[in-house]
Amino acid sequence: MSAKSGSEGDSSSDSLVAVVRFLQGAKLLGQTRLVAGDTIVEHAESAGVRIPTNCTSGTCGTCMVTLVEGNVDLPEILPPGLDDYLVERCARLGCIGVPLDDVDIDIRPPL
Ligand code: FES
Repeated sequence: MSAKSGSEGDSSSDSLVAVVRFLQGAKLLGQTRLVAGDTIVEHAESAGVRIPTNCTSGTCGTCMVTLVEGNVDLPEILPPGLDDYLVERCARLGCIGVPLDDVDIDIRPPL
């Protein structure tokens, strides 16, 4: 198994560092430490995972990913690339989404 299991009793050292993990289905593509304020795309680059981008401003939806676990900050007013329907299906935009803690991201959009 390459992915660490979160259910096997977290050790104290694991809980000190938040981790952003990138998946495609059940396959772990890469992971990196959380850097406060960095976007999902920036974390993906650190993890060696490529998420396609275009506008990099939340408008086009090219960078849409699926939040599997954890919290990613959303702007109060959703950008043009996201709507309530998509948010309910755990869609987030990699170019503007900022992970807040341990998160698992599926690099594919939810729809
Ligand atoms: S690259 Fe266009 S919404 Fe993220």
